[in-house]
Amino acid sequence: MFRRILIGLVGVLIVGVGAFAMLSWRSAIAPVARPSPAGFAPDLVARGEVLAGAGYCATCHTAQGGKPYAGGYPMRTAFGTIYSTNITPDPETGIGSWSEAAFQRAMQQGVARDGSHLFPAFPYDHFTKLTDADVAALYAYFITRPAVRATPPANTLPFPLNIRALQAGWKLLFFRDGPLTPDPIKGAEWNRGAYLAEGISHCGACHTPRNSLGAEERGKPYAGAAIDNWIAPPLTKANPSPVPWSRDELYAYLRSGVSQHHGTAVGPMSPVVHDGLRKLPDEDIRALAIYLADVAGSDARLAEIKPAIERALAADRAGAGAQTDPAARLYNAACASCHYNGGDAVNALRPELALNSAVTLSDPTNLIRVILYGVTAPEGAPGVVMPGFAAGFSDADIARIAGYLRSTRTSGPAWPDLDKAVATIRAQGNHE
Ligand code: HEC
Ligand code: HEC
Ligand code: HEC
Repeated sequence: MFRRILIGLVGVLIVGVGAFAMLSWRSAIAPVARPSPAGFAPDLVARGEVLAGAGYCATCHTAQGGKPYAGGYPMRTAFGTIYSTNITPDPETGIGSWSEAAFQRAMQQGVARDGSHLFPAFPYDHFTKLTDADVAALYAYFITRPAVRATPPANTLPFPLNIRALQAGWKLLFFRDGPLTPDPIKGAEWNRGAYLAEGISHCGACHTPRNSLGAEERGKPYAGAAIDNWIAPPLTKANPSPVPWSRDELYAYLRSGVSQHHGTAVGPMSPVVHDGLRKLPDEDIRALAIYLADVAGSDARLAEIKPAIERALAADRAGAGAQTDPAARLYNAACASCHYNGGDAVNALRPELALNSAVTLSDPTNLIRVILYGVTAPEGAPGVVMPGFAAGFSDADIARIAGYLRSTRTSGPAWPDLDKAVATIRAQGNHE
C-alpha cells in the first residue's frame, strides 16, 4: 500500500516536472551572420535611437566607465545582483548573431536567442507592449552600433533562483504579453501617452510597488515604491504634493527636469528626464503629461493650485521670524538664504519646500538624501547647485532640519526615528 502511494507520488512528480519542462522550454533561434549596417534605412535607425533613449537602454546596459551598451551594469535586487548583457552587435559576446525575430522575442517575451528565459530585471514586461514596428526600429539601431567585445560578470543569484527555466513559473503568474489595447473613449494623445508610459518608458517599473517575488502589483499601478534607496512617489491621486500635477507642470518637469511648483527631478528620476526622455519630440512629452495628469486625477483639481501656493508662501513667511526655536535658527542659517520666495509667486530655481514631495511624502528618505548629498547642476537645473551638507552637519542636525520642515510646512504626521533614518542613508552613500 505504502509503496503504491510512493510510486503514485513519484509518478505525479515526474508528470509535474515533465509538464513544467514543456511549459518552460523555448527553442533556440538559429544564429545569423551580423546583418550589414548598410541594409537599414537611416530613418528607421533614427527612430530606433529615439526609442532607445525613451527606454533608458543606455542607463542599464552601460557599466560605469564602460563602452555604451556593452553591458555589465549591476542591478542589485533583493535576491542577488543581476548584470545587464552586452547589446552591441558583437557576434560572440553581444547580439550580433541575433536575427530580428530573436531580438523581437527577447523584447516581447523575455526569452534570449538560445531559448533561455530572461530575468524581469530586464523590463520586458513593459517592452512586450511595443508595436512590432517600434521593435524593428530598435533592432535597426542596435545592430548598426559599433560592436564591443565584452562579457558581463556572472550574476550572484543563489540556487535555485539562478535556474532560468523557473522564470517560466514567474511568467505564468505575473506576465501578460501582447500589445497595449488603445482605449477608444480617450483621445489620440492620451493613448499615445499611455503607450509611451506603459511600454518603452516603463514609468511603473519604479513608481509601482512590487510583491515579494519582484513583480509589479497589478492592482496598484503608480501607487509609489522604494527604488535604489529613493522613494518614487505615487503618481496617482495619492501623490502628496499640495499642488496637483497638472498637464503643464508635468510637461515642464518631464521636458526640462524642473517644474515651478514641484521642484526638480533628482536621484534616479534625473537620468529618466535628461538621458531618457530628452530625445522624444515635444508632442510625445505632451502626450505623457496628458496621460499622467489623468492618472493623477489633476484635471478636476486645478482650483486647488492657487490656495495651495498661498498657504505654502504663508508658511514660509511665518517660519522666517521664529528665531527662538533652535531648529528654525538652523534652517534659516543653512537653507533659507536660497529657499525663500518673496511676493506671491514661486521661483522655479528656488524650490518651495512646502510644495515639494520630499517634505510632504510619508517617508523622509528623499528629503534626507537631498540635504546630505545636494543636487549638482547636471543632475538638476543647469547653472544652479544645491550644496550637500553631509560633511558639515551631524545626523542630529539634519534630522532637526527635516523634522522642522515637516512640522512647519505640512499637516502630515511627524516622521519617527529621524536620527536613525539619517544615519542609515549616510551609510548607504551617494551612489548614482
Ligand atoms: C532596468 C534596466 C534595463 C533597461 C532599462 C533595459 N534593459 Fe535590457 N536587460 C537588462 C538586464 C538586467 C538584462 C539581462 C537579463 C538576464 O540576464 O536575464 C537585459 C537583457 C536584454 C536583452 C537580452 C540580451 C541577451 O544577451 O540575452 C536585450 C536584447 C535587451 N536587454 C535589450 C534592451 C533594450 C533594447 C533596451 C531599451 C529599449 C533595454 N534592454 C533596456 C536590463 C535593462
Ligand atoms: C528608474 C526609476 C524611475 C523611472 C523609470 C521613472 N521614475 Fe519618476 N521618479 C523616480 C524617483 C526615485 C522619483 C523621486 C525623486 C524626485 O522627486 O525627483 C521620481 C519622481 C517623479 C515625479 C515627481 C513626483 C513628485 O511628486 O515629486 C514624477 C511626476 C515622475 N517621477 C514621473 C515619471 C514618469 C512620467 C516616468 C516615465 C516616463 C517616470 N517617472 C519614470 C524614479 C523613476
Ligand atoms: C546655495 C543655495 C541652496 C542652499 C543653501 C540650499 N538649497 Fe536646497 N536647493 C537649491 C536649489 C538651486 C535647488 C534646485 C536644484 C536644481 O534644480 O538643480 C534645491 C533643491 C532642494 C530640494 C528639492 C529637491 C527636489 O526634488 O525638488 C530640497 C528638498 C531642498 N533643496 C532642501 C534644502 C534644505 C533642507 C536646505 C538646508 C539644509 C537647502 N536645501 C539648502 C539651493 C539651495
